[in-house]
Amino acid sequence: MPQSSADVMPIGVESFKAITASHVRKIYETPSGPVEAVAEADFEITRGDFVAILGPSGCGKSTLMLMIAGLEAATSGTITLDGLPVSGPQIAAGMMFQDPTLLPWRSVLENVLFPIDMRGAVSPENRARAESLLRMVDLWAFRDKRPRELSGGMRQRVALARALVNDPRILLMDEPFSALDAITRDEMGYALARIWDTTRKTAIFITHSIREAIFLSDRVIVMGKRPSTIIEDVRIPFERPRDPSIEADPRFNELYLHLKSSILRSTSSVQ
Ligand SMILES: Nc1ncnc2c1ncn2[C@@H]1O[C@H](COP(=O)(O)OP(=O)(O)OP(=O)(O)O)[C@@H](O)[C@H]1O
Ligand SMILES: [Mg+2]
Repeated sequence: MPQSSADVMPIGVESFKAITASHVRKIYETPSGPVEAVAEADFEITRGDFVAILGPSGCGKSTLMLMIAGLEAATSGTITLDGLPVSGPQIAAGMMFQDPTLLPWRSVLENVLFPIDMRGAVSPENRARAESLLRMVDLWAFRDKRPRELSGGMRQRVALARALVNDPRILLMDEPFSALDAITRDEMGYALARIWDTTRKTAIFITHSIREAIFLSDRVIVMGKRPSTIIEDVRIPFERPRDPSIEADPRFNELYLHLKSSILRSTSSVQ
């Protein structure tokens, strides 16, 4: 019996839909009463698409991502990965958060290998993959350093390599760059775009930055304020690979203003 959607890849017309959410609702039961985080989420994400999620603070973005990863159960509705319902933690999903959560006593390479270590012995193939990911994120020279010897941006690049080490089918990122200074944040965005171009993983990227969302994504979803629904779903037309100069394109500005006004209609808490 398959344990999760990682074990079986159904063949057929549904399989190009990497992620689907159908009538997904989430209510947290708390000591002070129920909190309805997500009222209704419905979407389909095509394999290989990079999708950003924007929305006001507290609208349920992280909750939605945790439900996709199988780390929170939906109160009702269905989420599928590659056509199979999510009913527990998904090994098919690599994750990145605002905090890189590296283990301070492990080297950079050992941190990247940690998810494999946890599941059993590290094979020579695993090690070779981790090493090639460290080259991809430009940290090969730092492979034997400890996390404290790295800058914030470098630590997030380690976290990205770690998220990719199991070769997940989907990459889930929850505000991975929001603790970085503005220049490092832009550089990380450019690095992620370059790395994503080589892997083309189906990706969900939560951010409060409209610019970052447009630059990185094929599609931007906007959630309204809690209890949230999806209030906007926009295709981003720029060719890949993308160059920072697209920010000077009038279409970039148009999309920016369109998304900003749609978020402002539900709240004022955006960058
Ligand atoms: N484990 C939990 N138990 C109870 N309530 C929770 C829990 N996690 C989140 N919530 C509540 O659910 C709502 C949505 O939270 P969530 O963290 O998903 O929002 P968010 O959109 O990610 O916000 P932010 O942009 O600030 O990260 C909030 O009202 C929050 O207080
Ligand atoms: Mg959040």
